[in-house]
Amino acid sequence: MKIGIVGGTGREGRGLAVRWAKAGHGVFIGSRDAQRGRDKAAEFSEEFGITLQGGDNDSACKYGDLIVVTVPYSAHRPTFESIRSRVGNKVIIDITVPLQPPKIRSVNLPEGQSAALEARALLDDDARLVAALHHISSEHLSDPSYVFDCDVLVCGDDQDARAEVIGIVADLGLRGVDAGVLRNSIALESLTPVLLHINRRYKSVGSGIRVTGIPETE
Ligand SMILES: NC(=O)c1ccc[n+]([C@@H]2O[C@H](COP(=O)([O-])OP(=O)(O)OC[C@H]3O[C@@H](n4cnc5c(N)ncnc54)[C@H](OP(=O)(O)O)[C@@H]3O)[C@@H](O)[C@H]2O)c1
Repeated sequence: MKIGIVGGTGREGRGLAVRWAKAGHGVFIGSRDAQRGRDKAAEFSEEFGITLQGGDNDSACKYGDLIVVTVPYSAHRPTFESIRSRVGNKVIIDITVPLQPPKIRSVNLPEGQSAALEARALLDDDARLVAALHHISSEHLSDPSYVFDCDVLVCGDDQDARAEVIGIVADLGLRGVDAGVLRNSIALESLTPVLLHINRRYKSVGSGIRVTGIPETE
């Protein structure tokens, strides 16, 4: 699959890019600044022995069969406004958590109730938005030898899009779990500040969520 990462120059973008590229996918690192996108793609490629492409966020949207948005919440609205005419009916994964620094260990419900619901409101009706990966630390993603023991909760209003995302998440070395409609992103995004608290309390790098009581094979 070809995957375009909007804001792919950052921490999550780096970790997603290396794991997906090592799994055989084509990955494009997008940035507000095309040269920065190219430079970061070259840097990550050399660091991990992979081949990435890079450029601006528009080009990432054009390149990707699947688009992933990895920007801070403060950049979320302008980023979705800038790509809304570029995404068509492609599946978009929004990993944004609406943290409100400096209180990042306390739940912040944004005006639209979740970042993903706010993104959905900005997009055209045929856009297929899925929210996922809120609980996966960039440090673990960026270490290809790290073996995950947590799950990725995946929500969105299009069941086929959720299934597609669960499939691509497996190529990161993670089990995706269908977590229902996009409105459930309120709960998913809200768990991240809880995990950030747990990380500090127990001195862990990236605590995660594991769903029990479901068939392992599904
Ligand atoms: N880091 C984690 O462990 C983690 C885990 C789970 C979820 N998340 C969520 O994932 C998202 C990305 O996190 P991250 O740590 O990867 O973020 P980051 O490294 O701070 O930023 C990612 C990229 O966003 C772009 N960006 C930054 N400020 C911007 C602005 N004002 N306007 C437009 N673009 C801007 C930058 O790309 P350019 O300058 O190249 O455009 C930057 O490289 C966040 O919403 C975060 O809550 C993070």
